[in-house]
Amino acid sequence: MSELTLPTVRQRPLDPPDEVTALRQQAPIHRMTYADGHRGWLVTGYAAARAVLAGPHFSNRPENNVHPPIRSARMEAAMRPELMRVPPGFFLRMDAPEHTRYRKLLTGQFTVRRMKMLEPRIEEITEACLDAMEAAGPPVDLVQEFALPIPSLVICELLGVPYEDRDRFQADSRILVNLETKADDAVAALGRVSAYLHELIQRKRKEPADDLLSGLVESGELADDELTGVGVLLLIAGHETTANMLGLGTYALLTNPDQLAAMRDDPSVVENGVEELLRYLTIIHLGPVRTALEDVEIEGVTIKAGESVTIHLPAANRDASRFPDAERLDVTRPAGGHLTFGHGIHQCLGQQLARAEMRIAYPALLRRLPGLRLAVTPEEVPMRSDMSIYGVHRLPVTW
Ligand code: HEM
Repeated sequence: MSELTLPTVRQRPLDPPDEVTALRQQAPIHRMTYADGHRGWLVTGYAAARAVLAGPHFSNRPENNVHPPIRSARMEAAMRPELMRVPPGFFLRMDAPEHTRYRKLLTGQFTVRRMKMLEPRIEEITEACLDAMEAAGPPVDLVQEFALPIPSLVICELLGVPYEDRDRFQADSRILVNLETKADDAVAALGRVSAYLHELIQRKRKEPADDLLSGLVESGELADDELTGVGVLLLIAGHETTANMLGLGTYALLTNPDQLAAMRDDPSVVENGVEELLRYLTIIHLGPVRTALEDVEIEGVTIKAGESVTIHLPAANRDASRFPDAERLDVTRPAGGHLTFGHGIHQCLGQQLARAEMRIAYPALLRRLPGLRLAVTPEEVPMRSDMSIYGVHRLPVTW
């Protein structure tokens, strides 16, 4: 009987743990012991990962996913009854067909037109962050000055949070997405953000504008508590993810100067480069986790009803049977088809927005500050190994 637990220690900051890579080379799916002793599964192969994520008999509801893959304060907090319930509208943690209704409504709001309309605003926000960075002068922490504020301001823009409310909104959202936050503080912050969004929705009812929350209000399909849940989900899902891609992506480029030069000097590389950074860095690095509702066979292995499956996205994205020379960062390769945004019914709703942010922000940074470099050694940059979204805690840079 195997006693494999989820390997989390990385030997090199940009590569998944060597143990996970070795497992993938042996087989796509493995027995794994969860933090509470549950005997479930770990998926490391690309095809198996897609099969689980697309499988209709795997649940993402919190009450079905009760086995934490690793021991951590935040995962234990997530087991608290008030955090275990799916709040109305929080469709990431719902299964079909309940999920389908929200997803359809939201897809209707994430239109190509709305994403295009946001692009000039993303450009302005990026330039304003770069102005502030230049004014502050080197060295600066790129996370605080660039990687965090851009997605945070963009999500406010998307939702239609008025300018004067942003500070209030951002302070709590920062508490919420910080995995070091204690359970009581998370519950309190969630309460304040929900109350704020609830109040904002009332305002949108009276004075609708051309933003996503107004659009949802006007659809007349959702009750206020559902609208609030949708708003909270978008805020949480759309903020820290993109921020960590900007921070870790910049670290990856600064430590691979040939790749940085290609991204900076050739605009035609940027689109592929963003996909490749998404694939290579795979910031959702400890999951997702699903639980089988029925016995399901995946690649010759029977997963029994009630067993949990951890899908190791970084391992799957380095599967050489899907991505030749997968261990190499190559910003010129076509890296489409990676699983960084997930797969199946929950595949990231905000992926086009995240792509737009990265396609604008990386080249703007590299062209405006051509002398950009780390202000410390690469080894001194603190990595977010302890967080469910991987990245850099801080990125001291100079130019
Ligand atoms: C680089 C940035 C991002 C990454 C890597 C990312 C990754 C992911 C992943 C892996 C999932 C699926 C989770 C699962 O299957 O359990 C997901 C879902 C989701 N993401 Fe993103 N995301 C990013 C940016 C965004 C942005 C900017 C938004 C919103 C504006 C957003 C909104 C959502 C929502 C609403 C879901 C749930 C979809 C559903 O359940 O149908 N994400 N994301």
